[in-house]
Amino acid sequence: MKRVVIIGAAVAVVALVQAAGAAPKPAATVKVPPLAIVEGRHAAMMMSSSAFGAMRAQANADDLKRAVRPAQALNLWAKAIPGMFPAGTNVAPTDALPAVWTDRAGFDAAAQTYVAATAAAVQAATANDKTAFAAALDQVGKSCSACHDKYRKAEEKH
Ligand code: HEC
Repeated sequence: MKRVVIIGAAVAVVALVQAAGAAPKPAATVKVPPLAIVEGRHAAMMMSSSAFGAMRAQANADDLKRAVRPAQALNLWAKAIPGMFPAGTNVAPTDALPAVWTDRAGFDAAAQTYVAATAAAVQAATANDKTAFAAALDQVGKSCSACHDKYRKAEEKH
């Protein structure tokens, strides 16, 4: 009986190793149309506004637990931002300024500030710390506008 289990486990390990070997090539070979990336950015940025609004609506709640999820969502998106602006995606109808690509270090730093601000919001909401949460909301809002000011076309221009 024991031997059957051991053989079963060995077969499972071999199957896993084979499955790993058959795994698709690294993501660098995946080609996504630039327009799909622009649309994905627009969708995620619009959802960022909803998530941020949901967080603000909870700022005075007795329990900040409903703010945790939207804060986590913003934090995940903040981490994804640099990868969502690859070279070749400065195409219509993007509202990103060329500075995203010509001042890459500055853009990535703006995304990093946003990562830190949203992480602080997750932490404060999880700890139900209202003072820290209010401060984090302020920092998140500032990080949105700091990046938009430098890297997104002004809204009145279109
Ligand atoms: C690191 C830079 C950066 C940060 C931080 C950032 N954004 Fe953006 N955002 C952009 C850029 C660049 C665009 C234009 C993207 C495009 O058109 O391809 C954009 C576009 C948008 C849009 C317009 C989407 C559309 O459909 O045209 C909204 C809404 C938006 N952002 C909301 C937010 C909110 C809310 C936050 C913060 C909670 C935020 N953004 C944080 C860079 C940033």
